[in-house]
Amino acid sequence: MILQAGPGCRAHTPLSVLAAMFRHLAEQTTVPVVSHLDHGYTIEECREAVDCGFTSIMFDGSRKPLAQNIDETAAIAELAHGAGISCEGEIGFVGYADGEQSAGTDPDEAAQFARQTGVDAMAISVGNVHLQQNTGNYLDEPRIRAIEKVTSVPLVIHGGSGVPDAQRLQLARSSNICKYNIGTELRMAFGSALRDAVNSDSSRFDRVAILKDTHAPMVQACRRVLQTMN
Ligand code: 13P
Repeated sequence: MILQAGPGCRAHTPLSVLAAMFRHLAEQTTVPVVSHLDHGYTIEECREAVDCGFTSIMFDGSRKPLAQNIDETAAIAELAHGAGISCEGEIGFVGYADGEQSAGTDPDEAAQFARQTGVDAMAISVGNVHLQQNTGNYLDEPRIRAIEKVTSVPLVIHGGSGVPDAQRLQLARSSNICKYNIGTELRMAFGSALRDAVNSDSSRFDRVAILKDTHAPMVQACRRVLQTMN
């Protein structure tokens, strides 16, 4: 299981708190748990995550020119490996449904990035887009196959929300894609449960009482995602 702290989450909770919380939760379960920094944008942020006890970091240099992305990612992979943890990088650019356009991953650049950075996992742009609220966004399978031909580094799909269940499953079984990041789909389930909880009783004000009602729907939403991947 992978617990991720992305930029939105980190804007409101210090990394040290998240790291301690993830570690505590990991110790309560019998399955292996990774605590992962998602979309680290600077070496300082990645170093802080390592120092706090995260067991995996992502450096996102995908907005930078290729050579700079490679150099900075390589330095961060070295930092991670020195601490005995794993590092994910991004090549190509995964855009946002409400903003920046994607730049698809070029297979030759992916091979060069994998070779020269030493990353353990590589986020690629193959039709995936962050923040999609509707399903039906198919990934570009020929591009995935072309990338797999030139590198064996495990692949990551950001913007996993919106990719149809059947394609997620088929690619999870048959390709080098080893990780789907799925956020929006779960946040939508949370938002809807929270709205119901607030609207169900206008006299309720206690945050714990309100948030309790979101727990079961979130478990159900996570279970649905995991079961459709099996
Ligand atoms: P979605 O919120 O679009 O599922 O993407 C999550 C993600 O890629 C986080 O890095």
